[in-house]
Amino acid sequence: MKSVVLLSFVFLGLASATVEGPIISSPELLSPKRDPNELPLAEKCNPDWCKLPKCRCSGTDIPGGLSPRITPQFITITFSNGINVRNIQTYREILYGRKNFNGCPLGATFYVSHEYTDYTLVNELYNQGYEIALNSISHRTPQAYWAKANYSIIKEEIADQRIQMAHFANISQASIKGVRLPFLQMSGNSSFQVMADYGFDYDASWPTVTRNFWPYSLDYATTQYCKSPPCPTASIPNTWVQPMVSWIDSNGNPCGMVDGCHSTPDLNDVDGWYWFIVRNFNIHYHSNRAPFGFHIHEWFLSSNPAVKAALVSFMNTIRGLNDVFIVNSSEVLKWVRNPIPVAQYRAKPCREWRPTTCFIRSCGPVVGEHNGMNYWMRLCNRCPRVYPWTGNPLGI
Ligand SMILES: *[C@@H]1O[C@H](CO)[C@@H](O)[C@H](O)[C@H]1NC(C)=O
Ligand SMILES: *[C@@H]1O[C@H](CO)[C@@H](O)[C@H](O)[C@H]1NC(C)=O
Ligand SMILES: *[C@@H]1O[C@H](CO)[C@@H](O)[C@H](O)[C@H]1NC(C)=O
Ligand SMILES: *[C@@H]1O[C@H](CO)[C@@H](O)[C@H](O)[C@H]1NC(C)=O
Repeated sequence: MKSVVLLSFVFLGLASATVEGPIISSPELLSPKRDPNELPLAEKCNPDWCKLPKCRCSGTDIPGGLSPRITPQFITITFSNGINVRNIQTYREILYGRKNFNGCPLGATFYVSHEYTDYTLVNELYNQGYEIALNSISHRTPQAYWAKANYSIIKEEIADQRIQMAHFANISQASIKGVRLPFLQMSGNSSFQVMADYGFDYDASWPTVTRNFWPYSLDYATTQYCKSPPCPTASIPNTWVQPMVSWIDSNGNPCGMVDGCHSTPDLNDVDGWYWFIVRNFNIHYHSNRAPFGFHIHEWFLSSNPAVKAALVSFMNTIRGLNDVFIVNSSEVLKWVRNPIPVAQYRAKPCREWRPTTCFIRSCGPVVGEHNGMNYWMRLCNRCPRVYPWTGNPLGI
């Protein structure tokens, strides 16, 4: 067998209790006079009522009841924050031109925040076939801002950002389906309510602690432990959680983002990092094959060339495995809704998308009305009057 199966792995969770981590008890006191706008509280999920493709209970069971051997192992490589002339170098170097075993180009997902983003480069990534998703307009601090963000704030930060992104990067609004909240800070029901109302598909902000969850919908109560409260507790159909299944660092502690792992091999040790990645991959590949996430900020790769080299070498290994696919997050959700055995999946035609043109504009100085600063922008549309921001996403 391939070298990736050499290391032993930790088998997590499949056989344990159905609730992850500490049990959250929520004695909801339903007041007799409930606000009619209040969302219904999510009830315990019963798989007899919650069925694919529209509904899935949270859990580690494989969609469609497939056995692990015939389940495709998906890998999602995701990057957060702005796209600029520096980090595009890394994306070009490690992603462009790469293929999966089946000959299809590999996918990746970019959760893009607005400030300092070069939209001509977003257009480039889109036209290379990568998925563009959202990480908010302001990405502002403190983190508590996001914990408290109500519906109208999330609407301005996320729903308006889709209009902004489509406009300045000249990409289709319909291709933008995913959301990652800044600092992976949940905002209760708000973000999911906005997602449902504005037709987003999924959230990718919620790290697990110990268990390999597959994506699930929020029609019913989740059993995923809430790492950054408040988490949603209402029933919000048509929204999905793509859990960020945590890595296990060298001390056995979970980490949602690779650059957030505390105890790792030496940052100059390519081999050490290669095996660190492989070991975490095997936790998925040799158990329930829940999607394996490589979630990272680009700076971590550019400032640690050995880590970057280890990732490239891992991708080269994967290229030889006929049941492993590096894909974008939307593709994972598509499969979860309609699970098919790996042989059938492998034979599917590669992606198709409609390329768009970017007539490059450089604009500036453009004044930020929110902070008085001057900005320079590169984009695929007319120059805005002021620097686009929440409340005025097109800078009109
Ligand atoms: C989410 O909605 C549920 C059901 O209406 C409610 O009980 C809960 O308090 C809400 N969560 C937050 C953080 O507002
Ligand atoms: C995600 O990948 C699939 C399959 O590779 C492709 O068909 C689809 O267009 C991609 N989605 C986005 C939003 O880029
Ligand atoms: C949402 O929060 C903001 C800031 O705290 C506040 O100004 C606004 O009134 C709130 N909106 C609603 C609908 O509660
Ligand atoms: C956006 O792309 C389309 C399709 O290529 C093109 O017709 C249009 O002119 C472009 N618009 C801008 C503003 O760049």
